[in-house]
Amino acid sequence: MFERSSTIIKDGGKLSFEYVPKKLVHREEQMRRLETLFRPLAEESRPCSAFLAGSVGTGKTVTARRFCEDMRDHCAAKGKAVDVIFINCRMKNTEHGIIYHLLRHYDPGCPDRGFSAADMLQSLRKKVESSSRPLVVVLDEVDVLLKNSNRDLIYQLSRFNEGMRPPASVSLMMISQYSMADKIDEASVSSFKRANTVKFDRYTRSELRDIIESRAEEALVSGAMGPDVIDLLADIAREFGDARLAIELIEKAASIAEGGDGGRITPDDARSANAMIYSNVSESKLVDLDMKRKLALLAIARAMKKESEISITAAERTYAVVCEEYDQAARKHTQFWTYVQDMENIGLLATTVRNEAEGGRVTYISIQDIPPKELARKLENILDDPADVDEERY
Ligand SMILES: Nc1ncnc2c1ncn2[C@@H]1O[C@H](COP(=O)(O)OP(=O)(O)OP(=O)(O)O)[C@@H](O)[C@H]1O
Ligand SMILES: [Mg+2]
Repeated sequence: MFERSSTIIKDGGKLSFEYVPKKLVHREEQMRRLETLFRPLAEESRPCSAFLAGSVGTGKTVTARRFCEDMRDHCAAKGKAVDVIFINCRMKNTEHGIIYHLLRHYDPGCPDRGFSAADMLQSLRKKVESSSRPLVVVLDEVDVLLKNSNRDLIYQLSRFNEGMRPPASVSLMMISQYSMADKIDEASVSSFKRANTVKFDRYTRSELRDIIESRAEEALVSGAMGPDVIDLLADIAREFGDARLAIELIEKAASIAEGGDGGRITPDDARSANAMIYSNVSESKLVDLDMKRKLALLAIARAMKKESEISITAAERTYAVVCEEYDQAARKHTQFWTYVQDMENIGLLATTVRNEAEGGRVTYISIQDIPPKELARKLENILDDPADVDEERY
């Protein structure tokens, strides 16, 4: 057992999502911008803030981690300690959970129960003050927190800085796939400004190629992935501009090749890896939807194209076209809205409501687990399958 040594993968850890490369290719501009935004902290311990926004797999989390580590090292070399606490708001999505996590950084033994959020905040403030160190709180996937209307926490953290004696201060780095400017404005005071946005665009094909090449070099046996396969993987990932997909493809293709005898990854291994990745949006969830909901979801997936989200109005426009194509009557707005909510409940999509600049509130829909184009393809296959006749159609 285990006597056969690995012929493809040299260091699997380098393909894990937690791994933070020493140098990030093609994120130099964002690193520089963060440096500008956090200079007052590094030099004078003053509180700073940044808001990192961009779609899935554009390197927001990894850039925030790299930057915070580098900043901590830089400050430490100058004899100045900086605390950084990284919180994923999808994992810890309540105000209480987050404050408790922050408190535990200073007092690992502090009890979880019996204190109100206000008490805990008070005690956190004292801890930060007496630490005499700047604290940087990174709230990753902050949209989950803001969606649950926990805006007060951001406001409270910003208030900490009033009257706090340097070098103690609280800085905030918020990360989201969606532009949260309006919610953050509502939530916070002037010290956490929206002007501090750092944008992450989707990666281009050649950027993805460089990312794949550099990660393959670190993780795989030399020569295991040839330039033809690197090109192929970059072609697959370019459609979404998503580096996570690129890394996942390397990992899957390498595992498939590991099972063979060739000692290198073939283009077919890369194609099989691609086919495997999107099978996790369970077909059964889609098949189980009734005709009306399938059509609504197809319309949403088609309308989304490569956007990270679309307004419900835009989705309804496509819905009318899709219904016509499948010879079905399009339902009214309230009914469409119910379909959207049902599908959110079973995790096929997500919604968020935002204030628009022109006034009014608009619902936006996003699809997270599968590229919309791939979802549309799956639904079209199911809808076109003669075995899948919906009883209500006749
Ligand atoms: N410029 C880059 N160089 C090397 N690896 C990268 C780069 N950008 C992203 N990656 C890798 O791609 C994967 C996804 O990146 P990351 O988790 O930072 O994306 P994200 O923007 O936070 O996505 P999400 O919005 O889904 O959380 C990670 O494994 C990360 O290490
Ligand atoms: Mg992330």
